[in-house]
Formats: sequence, structure tokens, C-alpha cells
Amino acid sequence: MTHEKDYVLGTHDEEISRLALQHRAWRSRALDAWRRAGFAAGRTILDVGCGPGYASLDLAEVVGPSGAVIALDRSRRFLDALEAASRRRGLENVRTVELDLEEGNFPPLQADGAWARWVLAFMRRPRDLLARVAGALKPGGAIVLHEYFHYATWQLAPSSPEHQEFVRIVMETWRASGGEPDVGLDLPRWLGELGFATKEVRPILEVVTPRDPLWQWPRSFVGSGLRRLVELGRLTPARSEAIARAFAAAEAAPDCLMVTPGVLEVIAVSR
Ligand SMILES: C[S@@+](CC[C@H](N)C(=O)[O-])C[C@H]1O[C@@H](n2cnc3c(N)ncnc32)[C@H](O)[C@@H]1O
Repeated sequence: MTHEKDYVLGTHDEEISRLALQHRAWRSRALDAWRRAGFAAGRTILDVGCGPGYASLDLAEVVGPSGAVIALDRSRRFLDALEAASRRRGLENVRTVELDLEEGNFPPLQADGAWARWVLAFMRRPRDLLARVAGALKPGGAIVLHEYFHYATWQLAPSSPEHQEFVRIVMETWRASGGEPDVGLDLPRWLGELGFATKEVRPILEVVTPRDPLWQWPRSFVGSGLRRLVELGRLTPARSEAIARAFAAAEAAPDCLMVTPGVLEVIAVSR
């Protein structure tokens, strides 16, 4: 229960819905990266920090009934949501493991692949987590990571001081809870030290208008993020409302553009 309260973004129903929307926005990129990493039928894949498991469900389709997805997270609420969704879809190849990724032991297995998205950014010791993932992979196993490498690329044009303030406070809050939003650029080096050969490193960053479906991804985080920052005592309700109003005004202005927060895609293979 403590974990449910401690995790900086929260595990409430609104966050479960936001993660669903976020996965819909990123689904095609994830599927494409998994294909390039060789995730295919019959493979066993770890979903490290799976959340409510929207990616785990897609991975379960990719590996099929002869494969397996091992979904790890410390949030009981998120794992319950994933188990319920697996039952609804009749999937029998998803196994959930409730685990603190910084402390608990990984299940003893030799997986063919591992996937982690927006998880290392929340770890106090992200390199140690990568080492444990490495230990759970077969030689030749592939790891696919999507993590931010430059969160502050997230901006509006015309620029909005309120939005910049929001981005700054989000980054401060993640750092105050022990994470590092811009963990992405460290990943290829750490993977090399841990015996991986990095195959691909690719920045993913878009410039979108409010009419672009991708707009809804960062936009949804403004709503839930502001409420969470008030809950955590990082913003007053009045300041949160001012930031929300400024975002709504920017969005309504003709020709408004948004640069998305920069994500790094890394694909590496263990030697
Ligand atoms: C932003 S969510 C991303 C979820 C999922 N990977 C996705 O892409 O939708 C971060 C996840 O990391 C999990 N998490 C954070 N710290 C953790 C820890 N110490 N141990 C296990 N899971 C953790 C949270 O519970 C949450 O599910």
C-alpha cells in the first residue's frame, strides 16, 4: 500500500486511463521496435515496470500461446488491472510478478527479451536494474528501452512560461523522488559496460498541432500531472488552475505547435 502512495505519478484510476491513452499513442512505435529486436512467436519476454500492462497485452499477442510475457511491477493495483484485462482477452501467457525493481529478486528465468518504457527514469539506481535485467536474459537476448533523454524539449510555440514552469516542476519532483527524467543518454554506455552490444539508438521527438492525435498524449499528462502535483503539495490549487488555463489558451490559439518530450529508443543484444 505504501508503494501505491509513494510512486511519484500515482497508481489511481486516472493514471491507469492516462497510461492507456499513452500506450495507444506509442503502440505502433513499440510494435516496430519489438519487431526489429526479434520479439516473435514462442519467445519469453520480460515487461519491466509494466504498469497496468497495456504493452504486456500486445507483447502477449506478439509471442502467442507458445511464448510468455513476465510482467513485473510493484503496484498491486496496476497488476490487478493487467490480470483482469488478460482474463477478459482469454490470454493465458501473461504472468504477473509483484516486485520492487530496486530491491526484490527477479524470478529465476532466462528470457529471450526484455522491454522497459518510462521506468528507469523513476529508479534511484537505474544501472543496477539494467544489470539485473541482464542477468535474467539468455546470451543473445535483446533489450528494448524507451526512456526520455531530454524532457525539457517539451514546449509550446508560441512559448508559454506557465508550461515551462510545469515541465520544470515535474522534472524537480521526479528528481526529488530519486529518479532522473533524462536517463536515456546514459543507457547505451551502461549497456556496453554490462556486456550488451547496442544495435540501435534513435531519438523520438515530434512537432505536433492540436489536430494531431499525438497531441493528446502530452496533453493528458498536463491534466493528471497538475492534479498529482497539487496532491504532492508541489503546487497550490490556484497555481495549478493558472497553468491549466494557460495550456487551454495556448491550445486554442491558431497555429499553436508543441514539441514533444524527447524519448530515446535503445535496442541492444546481450553477448
Ligand atoms: C510511467 S509508468 C510506465 C508503465 C509502463 N511501462 C508503460 O509504458 O505504460 C512507470 C511504472 O514503473 C513502476 N515503478 C516505479 N518504481 C518502481 C519500483 N521501484 N519497482 C517496481 N515498479 C516500479 C510504476 O508502478 C509504474 O507502473
